[in-house]
Amino acid sequence: MKQIKIFDTTLRDGEQSPGCSMNLREKIEVARCLERLKVDVIEAGFAISSPGDFESVQTIARTVKECSVASLARAGKVDIDTAWEAVKEAADPRIHLFIATSPLHMEYKLRMKPEEVLARTAEMVKYAKHYCSNIEFSAEDATRSDPAFLAQIVDAAIRNGATTINIPDTVGYTTPSEMRWLIEYLRENVENSDTVDFSVHCHDDLGMACANSLAGVLGGATQIECTINGLGERAGNTSMEEVVMAMRTRGDIYKAATRIDTTQIYRASKTVYDIIGQSAPLNKPIVGKNAFMHESGIHQHGVLANKQTYEIMTPESIGIRADNIVLGKHSGKHAFETRLNELGYTLSPEELLSCFSEFKVLCDKKKTVSDADLEALVAHTAKKSVKAADGYELDWFAVHTSNFTTATSTISLKRGDERFEAVCLGDGPIDAAFKAIDQIIKPVSHSFAEYTINSISEGKDTLGSVTLRLSANNRIFTGRGLSTDIIEASIRAYIDAANRLQDTFPNSETEKEA
Ligand code: KIV
Ligand code: ZN
Repeated sequence: MKQIKIFDTTLRDGEQSPGCSMNLREKIEVARCLERLKVDVIEAGFAISSPGDFESVQTIARTVKECSVASLARAGKVDIDTAWEAVKEAADPRIHLFIATSPLHMEYKLRMKPEEVLARTAEMVKYAKHYCSNIEFSAEDATRSDPAFLAQIVDAAIRNGATTINIPDTVGYTTPSEMRWLIEYLRENVENSDTVDFSVHCHDDLGMACANSLAGVLGGATQIECTINGLGERAGNTSMEEVVMAMRTRGDIYKAATRIDTTQIYRASKTVYDIIGQSAPLNKPIVGKNAFMHESGIHQHGVLANKQTYEIMTPESIGIRADNIVLGKHSGKHAFETRLNELGYTLSPEELLSCFSEFKVLCDKKKTVSDADLEALVAHTAKKSVKAADGYELDWFAVHTSNFTTATSTISLKRGDERFEAVCLGDGPIDAAFKAIDQIIKPVSHSFAEYTINSISEGKDTLGSVTLRLSANNRIFTGRGLSTDIIEASIRAYIDAANRLQDTFPNSETEKEA
């Protein structure tokens, strides 16, 4: 079996896509999941793109011990200096620099001649190499580049010290046979190509990212770039769970293995979906709710007789547990912690305490607490923003509504030691509550891009999970709230989103009053 490195770019290509932005704490949580998954490289961000990105790349570089940590950089000195500054304390730092090589990108985006791009590649790879031995070079839009020119670029990158050559299908345009051919061509036509890793980085615009990545492996690639749940620009990137499980399930075809601990896949997928406030489409390969369900009688009959009739991989192999043990109000902290550990969560003492007290509150409202409830509780605790300390929290609320009067809400929020109260009328209880919150927080003008309520488990006493997306200044801010009461869950979700909005676009009026 040949060994394939997994380069995860959830925190860079994934995070930069609309509606997927994460705060520092959330990025660290994802990085921990990636470390548990045993990915080879974590691309932690694009250090020069903002001070926040720099801080998160640097923090992840300092935190992660078991994987290489990379920062993206354009092929320019300031970008490379900044990337190095952010990753230099990592156990195995990597600088990932890129320049576009297709005629379209060179002419219209870079406004550079091919010779200039070639010279810049050589100069900047050499410059990055003086900092760091582990250098990845990417030829952006490689699949729409002239293969002979691409070979010259790759040759220059290898001569000047690149250790990984990445061939991105930036716009998701290529096909499996074309990708396989391109990697074979470069392996055959570039001197010393056997001394470096070749990598594929595919986007999913035509739904072929996973197939193209696997074809790259057949052509000689030894690294795949991917993201959890396939997050990424436009239609997304190659999905880690799909590409890893394809190589594991079809070892006979790909003759390739990864270091990935596949039993961590389900949890990593869930963590990322929870953080961005989405859930897997029901039919999503590997991690969708229906991926291991057998509805039709014929299928059920077959599976009962022999699972392999309709199951090419087991739910256990991706970390879905068959034993759904329930906890209740008599369960102590030890049983609670043990079950969380069995589900794959290791919480800090403070997180455990805060989760346990939320668990006790939940037990008063719900007779039994399922694994799904526990996962939601943990995600909810972890989701509290790093800035929550200086953000607003719900103190209490009272809402009155009926089908013959105007809804009224009274909301009390706290921030540190201060308390703020507002009373509002509204078109229904949610409108009244959100208006009262607006009066206190005064977030910048925004619109609602999404408001969804989901039940976490079965039964009428289920926890309701509310996800809100607020759109302001072309950015999306996601908030989530959890409660057995959907009005409370909505209020919590709105406060969460408004805090994030306030964090990015502080409102001067509020600052003055505070
Ligand atoms: O899609 C792409 O080309 C990229 C590069 C920067 C690697 O994300
Ligand atoms: Zn990309």
